[in-house]
Amino acid sequence: MLSVRNLAVDLQGSHVLRGVSFDVNERELVCLVGRNGAGKTTTMRTIMGFRKAVSGTIEFGGRDILGLRPYQIAQLGVGFAPEESEVFAELTVAENIAMPTWTCPNPRPAEARIAEAYKIFPRLERYRGRGGQVLSGGERKMVSIARALALGPKLLLLDEPTEGLSPVIVPSIVEGLANIRSFGHAVFIAESNIYHVPDFTDRLYVIERGEVIFAGPPAEARRNPDVRRVIEGAV
Ligand SMILES: Nc1ncnc2c1ncn2[C@@H]1O[C@H](COP(=O)(O)OP(=O)(O)OP(=O)(O)O)[C@@H](O)[C@H]1O
Ligand SMILES: [Mg+2]
Repeated sequence: MLSVRNLAVDLQGSHVLRGVSFDVNERELVCLVGRNGAGKTTTMRTIMGFRKAVSGTIEFGGRDILGLRPYQIAQLGVGFAPEESEVFAELTVAENIAMPTWTCPNPRPAEARIAEAYKIFPRLERYRGRGGQVLSGGERKMVSIARALALGPKLLLLDEPTEGLSPVIVPSIVEGLANIRSFGHAVFIAESNIYHVPDFTDRLYVIERGEVIFAGPPAEARRNPDVRRVIEGAV
């Protein structure tokens, strides 16, 4: 479904991504794990068309999407929940979630897509009328993920869905991720804490200084000495 090969990205003269390759197949949940500054957000933003690549390829559904604009990539079926959530403060929760159904054509009816978004995080039902500016960080994360889902995406990119959240909230997010997967969407998650990676992750890639240094199941990653050295900071 998504196939990234040898992706290289330079930002202000520094080689931020240096030959990154990975795959996300239909219905898979795949995680990209790395320390702060490893290149996770740059990977996501390049897939979404917000960053230019120096070299490499990005294919989605068999089509080369490198060079397309972000709205075109969204219309092809890639939903994105950015690291900072970017919930619109002046809109309500309900308006934030409905927004992609106004802007992005999709064969599935808007009501069905919105209903699915609320199913993922049932507590959002109670916050429908609340303004974006009063939401907590955890609530903003949920709205941002629900909004990306209302697009009706084939693939959902989530940049650090549990970052900055209290340990009490993390399980509701992880439960939401399990729901998303059970509805048949493929999910690609960036995560800096390897212990926040859900156990039901199909494959985990570890990125360090712009290079993928490990690919495999999460349990294997947690045992791998190179991964541990990087993740636990002993380098
Ligand atoms: N616009 C930019 N100009 C120059 N350098 C940048 C820019 N954006 C990011 N970088 C650098 O690229 C590297 C990767 O940044 P990126 O945001 O992709 O990391 P990350 O893995 O998402 O980190 P975090 O876990 O902190 O979110 C960092 O060293 C960062 O300083
Ligand atoms: Mg980041």
